[in-house]
Amino acid sequence: MTIFVTGGAGFIGSNFVIDWTAASSEPVVNLDKLTYAGNLQNLSQIEGRGRHIFVKGDICDNELLACILQEYKPRAIVNFAAESHVDRSIEGPSEFIETNVVGTFKLLEAAKNYFNGLPDVEKERFRFLHISTDEVYGSLSSSEPAFQENNRYEPNSPYSASKAASDHLVRAYHSTYGLPTLTTNCSNNYGPYQFPEKLIPLCIHNALSGKKLPIYGDGQQIRDWLYVTDHCTAIRRVLESGRLGETYNIGGWNEKANLDVVKALCVILDELRPLNTGSYEDQITFVPDRPGHDRRYAIDASKIERDLGWKPVETFESGLRKTAEWYLANMQWTAAITSGEYRQWVETQYRGGHLG
Ligand code: NAD
Ligand code: DAU
Repeated sequence: MTIFVTGGAGFIGSNFVIDWTAASSEPVVNLDKLTYAGNLQNLSQIEGRGRHIFVKGDICDNELLACILQEYKPRAIVNFAAESHVDRSIEGPSEFIETNVVGTFKLLEAAKNYFNGLPDVEKERFRFLHISTDEVYGSLSSSEPAFQENNRYEPNSPYSASKAASDHLVRAYHSTYGLPTLTTNCSNNYGPYQFPEKLIPLCIHNALSGKKLPIYGDGQQIRDWLYVTDHCTAIRRVLESGRLGETYNIGGWNEKANLDVVKALCVILDELRPLNTGSYEDQITFVPDRPGHDRRYAIDASKIERDLGWKPVETFESGLRKTAEWYLANMQWTAAITSGEYRQWVETQYRGGHLG
């Protein structure tokens, strides 16, 4: 048996593939377009082990999808492939519509055709697991309860709107065609191999490079942080035992204001890589806010805990320390990607934001 993963050269996908090959002898076919966010170096530790088959390609490519499904006959598809950065979706939404909406639709069509041709016994065990986000639920006030699976969808960015659209398509393919789907809606992940455009790796990279640590607006926006390997174990649980057609919220019960996250990171960096004078905190700079910036996300993860027995292992403190240690030990990984296109992106994104 084999599983078919899309977007497995990105941050969460590569962590999942590494975790999967460590926990299971089942091969994994990994289709990734290798956009700016995809990086085969993330997978170098499992290279040559024979259980990881990499295919460079696009989830929008019907023919390629049909070929992969026919050749490898997977018992499950796990869809990570997406454009994932909110700021980029504000600068240019079209790639988000193309991959997140059209791409998911193409993958669902290919999965449906493949599923319909399977013998009954294989139909029984087939799963289509779609990896989504808590951002589809919109923004919470400080007094509202955390997102539950039956919260209304109220996406506010082109990114979250494109993910919401893809979630609706997955739901429709289950209701209309009987495709055995599962959807997970997870909160903010952090950990090894996260592209340094996202808050935590960006701040680690900037701190070590003597650059400003950019805080949007007043820095009091709240996110609910989950260490990436905890997300990977949750995905495995849902794949093993999730109820067909259902959605599962995944989160770390770690609500933190952005400014506090960056300050906590500075404390760890001050300890692990002290400056000659002062603290990394001195590099914190307030910059113009993100348009349409959601104020608060919080995940109620009781359903996955109650029904599937999953709980995160890492606390925010242990996860953040591991993350800082990983980036310090792997500075070449960041150095290799923070050139060219990356530099151009950072210049455009923080234009006028007083970043030195
Ligand atoms: P990422 O941007 O690091 O990686 C995305 C991967 O998808 C890259 O390897 C990229 O090359 C690939 N990809 C993009 N377009 C593709 C296409 N058309 N065909 C094939 N491959 C393509 O993203 P991530 O942070 O690892 O997120 C993975 C998934 O998890 C996404 O669906 C995202 O919406 C979801 N998610 C992310 C977070 C988070 O905090 N990062 C939280 C919840 C959910
Ligand atoms: O909630 C899940 C989502 O988390 C995922 O679906 C997305 O794919 C992922 O990118 C992430 O979205 P966010 O927008 O929350 O992540 P980001 O790291 O971009 O920002 C985290 C918070 O920090 C957010 O409130 C914006 C703020 N921020 C971000 C950057 C890059 C800053 O204050 N300064 C920055 O430079």
